[in-house]
Amino acid sequence: MAKSMEIPFFDIRRVDKTKKQPILNAVKKVIESGKFILDKEVERFEREFSRFIGTKYSIGVASGTDAILLSLISLDVKGKNIITTPFTFVSTAEAIVKAGGTLIFADIQDDGFLMDLDNAASKIDRKTGGIIPVHLFGEMLDVKRLKAIVKGIPIIEDCAQSFGSFRDTNKAGSLGLTGCFSFFPTKNLGAYGDGGMITTNSSVLYKRLTSLRAHGKVGDKYTILGYNSRLDEVQAAILMIKMRYFEEDNRKKIRIAKRYIQGLKGFVKVPIYKEGYTFHQFTIRTEGRDKLKEFLKKNGIQTKIYYPIPLHLHPLFKNGYKKGAFPNSEKRAKESLSLPVFPDLTDNEIDYIVQNIRNFFKHR
Ligand SMILES: Cc1ncc(COP(=O)(O)O)c(C=O)c1O
Repeated sequence: MAKSMEIPFFDIRRVDKTKKQPILNAVKKVIESGKFILDKEVERFEREFSRFIGTKYSIGVASGTDAILLSLISLDVKGKNIITTPFTFVSTAEAIVKAGGTLIFADIQDDGFLMDLDNAASKIDRKTGGIIPVHLFGEMLDVKRLKAIVKGIPIIEDCAQSFGSFRDTNKAGSLGLTGCFSFFPTKNLGAYGDGGMITTNSSVLYKRLTSLRAHGKVGDKYTILGYNSRLDEVQAAILMIKMRYFEEDNRKKIRIAKRYIQGLKGFVKVPIYKEGYTFHQFTIRTEGRDKLKEFLKKNGIQTKIYYPIPLHLHPLFKNGYKKGAFPNSEKRAKESLSLPVFPDLTDNEIDYIVQNIRNFFKHR
């Protein structure tokens, strides 16, 4: 057994070490330009983003949460039912409630982390105004199949954890009415602060959303009640640089995931690797998850639990739902543990984590 190590869950300074100089140069350029809000950098990044995802339009906003919120507001979902899963970050549900929608949950897959499409189909009725599949942990849901099921109901893809994920040749965020991305620093494409992006092929939504993000401005007039939710020039310039490194960083993460899968199968339930999986998280499943987490912590390994409380049992989103309502989400909340999976994790570190997990089960 290797000697004791300290392994962080995520370390942005390590990940971005080689990108530091180009990023500093890009930030300097913005500072010297004196233009900080909705100017050339945001325009350039939006164009590049659309090209990468494969949509006609991209609209830079202040966060991933705002991307979902503004998408819902642009569709005027007030009083309508919006379906999502309880096994997601609070902000998916938060945006639905803030937009005036009624939160309706559909369970996740029996053996996975994504929305169960049959369960979602059973929740659709005349009041349904939208559905938000979450491409959780970097795994893209089958949006084509979802589209066939929902027959014209707006699909708002929550792509906060899935920049770059794809299925067949379709990228996450290219098939729904809108795709909503987060640039929170730990995400697949992370800024040095908050930021978000909405993708769409609809010129009507593009116009509405560019207005909504800038106080309802159309031309030089303020015509509707809007928001202050703009991606700023400094973040856009940083993201533009970081996008260049995405494929390389992603390849590194896939390699890490494969090494974990190889070392851990038979001990815990591991994710199944498929092409297009970006491993925003590498999440294992096991009984005795809390004890394993404690054991790893004692051995210097940081891990995280996504998500300990399924949202239908969260005081803010309960809406009369009871324990047992979404058994798959409840089970995942008890058994899931995410391991470090940032691009520059070394083989020694991965092997140390694998060895510790194996030891935990051998000596139980
Ligand atoms: C699934 C999911 N949806 C939405 C968000 C919201 O993104 P942001 O933190 O940029 O508001 C996040 C990220 O934190 C997320 O993980």
